[in-house]
Amino acid sequence: MKKQPRSSPRSHRTQRTVSIVGTGSYTPEKRLTNADLTKIVDTSDEWITTRTGIKERRIAAKDEKTSDMASRAALKALEQADVDPKDVDLILVATATPDMLFPATACFVQKKIGSPKAACLDISAACAGFLFGVEIGQQFITSGTHDTVLVIGAEKLSSITNWTDRNTCVLFGDGAGAVVLQHRGRAHGVISTHIGSDGNFTDILYMPGGGSNTPITRDNAHMHLATIHMHGKEVYKQAVTSMLSASKKAMEQAGLTTDDIACVIPHQANLRIIEGIADRLKIPLDRFFVNLDKYGNTSAAAVAMALDEANRSGRIKRGDYVLMVVFGGGLTWASTIVEW
Ligand code: ACO
Repeated sequence: MKKQPRSSPRSHRTQRTVSIVGTGSYTPEKRLTNADLTKIVDTSDEWITTRTGIKERRIAAKDEKTSDMASRAALKALEQADVDPKDVDLILVATATPDMLFPATACFVQKKIGSPKAACLDISAACAGFLFGVEIGQQFITSGTHDTVLVIGAEKLSSITNWTDRNTCVLFGDGAGAVVLQHRGRAHGVISTHIGSDGNFTDILYMPGGGSNTPITRDNAHMHLATIHMHGKEVYKQAVTSMLSASKKAMEQAGLTTDDIACVIPHQANLRIIEGIADRLKIPLDRFFVNLDKYGNTSAAAVAMALDEANRSGRIKRGDYVLMVVFGGGLTWASTIVEW
């Protein structure tokens, strides 16, 4: 018999339950393969594949903005949920590559999809931002403040990639994913969430230029400061540690064990990181959903895009316990268990 999740102090059983009632995603048409990258920097398909598992990534068109990709993913999620964009109460866009520093990318999305009554804001939690958004959206619905929340993860990482740095430029891609959250009067939905951060690690994954710390000027324009800077090995270590602990916390909170989890949707950064987590959690790798070979690391969009693909392809089925887990710059980490 299927195990029932434990009612924990944070599981909101006495409040409104929250379900993911629609998913959507969008990826730009242009494919950049590992072979293409060998023409730009000194690298090889063999190096990229063995170190990361990535084979190709999508690159947005020059005039395609983060809000364009976010809006397309959002409309697909709303269509699947059979929700009119006019009924959306709150739009949350998780991104490290907003259209502009302000206004929020969520405001551009609001205009593009036609959700006049929505409150709109962006979430800056790097790759973990989408699951931070699910947690925030859930809180608004369980409290009864809002009925319909649109959570989007969207990135145009190609716009902050240093295309002369082989350490980073092979890793990233562009895309967007979205979910619609609602209370639909049934027991299943989001049953456990955990979010966390550690500001002691702000210097291992960051973009130094373009903010108030170091504005881009004529003098520093050649220094690639408004691009992703990363200490790969340190990020790798922290990624495994934080995703492992976040996964355990979400399962503990829900009263579930690894045997109960039908599918894990991890951050799509690096196959070796995912293998490391599978090994330590003792969950067979075939229970992990992986699509980073096709899209690379799309930061805040990654888990949202993977969730949509897993949903539409039938990889996750009604009643399955699905564990989503992410880490990102900050450091930030988050985990969510959903009864599908
Ligand atoms: N092609 C060929 N050689 C390369 C490349 C490349 N694209 N990039 C780096 N190298 C070289 C380096 O110059 C270095 O050479 P050296 O030893 O002569 O100095 C060597 O390869 C480093 O190799 P390894 O030590 O084997 O690299 P490692 O196993 O650490 O893999 C990687 C590097 C893939 C970056 C790994 O550290 C990693 O995945 N880290 C985590 C990164 C990550 O997940 N980032 C995502 C978070 S960011 C976000 O999500 C927005």
